[in-house]
Amino acid sequence: MTDLTDPITNWADDFDILDRDYVVHPEHRWEEQRARCPIAFTERRQRTWLPVRYEDLAAIAHDVERFSSRDIAVISPFENMVGEDFLSAPPITSDPPVHTWARRLLLPAFGPSAIDRMTPITHDRAVRLIEEHFADGTGDAAADYARHIPVRVIAIMLGVPLEDESRFTGWVVRLLQEGFQYMDKAMDTLGEVVAYFAEKVAARRAVPEGERPDDLLTLLIEAETEEEMTDEHLLGTCFLLLVAGIDTTWSAIASGLWHLASHPEDQARLRAEPSLMPMAVEEILRVYSPVTMARYVTEDTEYAGCPMKAGDKVLMAFPAGNHDPEMFDRADEFVIDRERNRHFAFGSGIHRCLGSNLARMELQVAIEAFLEHVPTFTLSDPDAVTWTGGQVRGPRYVPISF
Ligand code: HEM
Repeated sequence: MTDLTDPITNWADDFDILDRDYVVHPEHRWEEQRARCPIAFTERRQRTWLPVRYEDLAAIAHDVERFSSRDIAVISPFENMVGEDFLSAPPITSDPPVHTWARRLLLPAFGPSAIDRMTPITHDRAVRLIEEHFADGTGDAAADYARHIPVRVIAIMLGVPLEDESRFTGWVVRLLQEGFQYMDKAMDTLGEVVAYFAEKVAARRAVPEGERPDDLLTLLIEAETEEEMTDEHLLGTCFLLLVAGIDTTWSAIASGLWHLASHPEDQARLRAEPSLMPMAVEEILRVYSPVTMARYVTEDTEYAGCPMKAGDKVLMAFPAGNHDPEMFDRADEFVIDRERNRHFAFGSGIHRCLGSNLARMELQVAIEAFLEHVPTFTLSDPDAVTWTGGQVRGPRYVPISF
């Protein structure tokens, strides 16, 4: 077993997704790895494989029998304590058949009418944040802007109080951004989340049917499902819906603004040609894909010549697949008007992101509002920008001025 402090000498035989170079410039590592060995392996934290080719990632994502979602954390909190035993958050942590109905019941809530309802709310929030934080010609596009948009949207959709927003963001930071370093804090946070939703669910059940508001909490407690939905399933889904869309979308918005601040030619072009916006949004999602997931190997097996053992972890490095030159021309370049862009920032296969259209709307509205209300902006201190990595990657401090 490699010691965590050992330096990495060869990325094919040993890697660490929390490595600072990987967090800031993962594309350098992927390029090196693609040339030497497309699926790297490490025992640094636990037995883990890292595929980086688009084709391998798609194949593994579709093979749900051998590659289960019972443990989706890129680093598991404790050895021998995985997925369902640790926290079930269906549908993302379930395999079929539970996954099928757990996902189906949520689908209507993320359809076009929900997106239409949330669009003006997202726009108002964005404009208000700009007025509050950027009036003096400076501000932090990540912490003062991107961070506050998705949390408001999902809180409204779930039906939980808006005054708890900073609490939700705190949970996401402690679980997804700091959790790998401070596992005990993350476990305490999880307990807090479960207790919070248990109380909200009980309060909602106490409201007579017919008088309950039209939101995700009501949808979940009134759901008629093929199998009985346990309280554990219900609370896990509430937890998933809250966290799945917060720092993912926050990261994508912040990456987009970081890109525009540091690439004036793209910012000028987008201002001059607003019709490019949908293509720019897809390119932000491709180049700066925030999410890496994991799969749990269910049986001893071989994939592409790699001898995998039951219990091994496979990292679903969707962001790496999005930089695969076999799939994309000029794969590491940001091409604002890229026409063919079949990226999988939102994953692939049965677990493909349920909130993808909501996320696209938030990203587009947030960037449009920023371009509309903030004149040409640049990074005021490029060296001060910070990135977080692991399960979700994105910039956390993006000081801009204009
Ligand atoms: C830019 C923002 C987002 C990105 C990059 C993203 C990415 C992803 C990815 C890669 C997956 C697949 C997970 C896997 O294969 O294991 C996923 C699943 C999921 N996402 Fe998103 N997501 C985003 C925003 C959202 C939003 C706003 C929501 C709303 C609540 C959401 C809800 C979900 C849910 C519920 C799943 C699980 C689907 C299933 O297991 O069937 N996501 N997301």
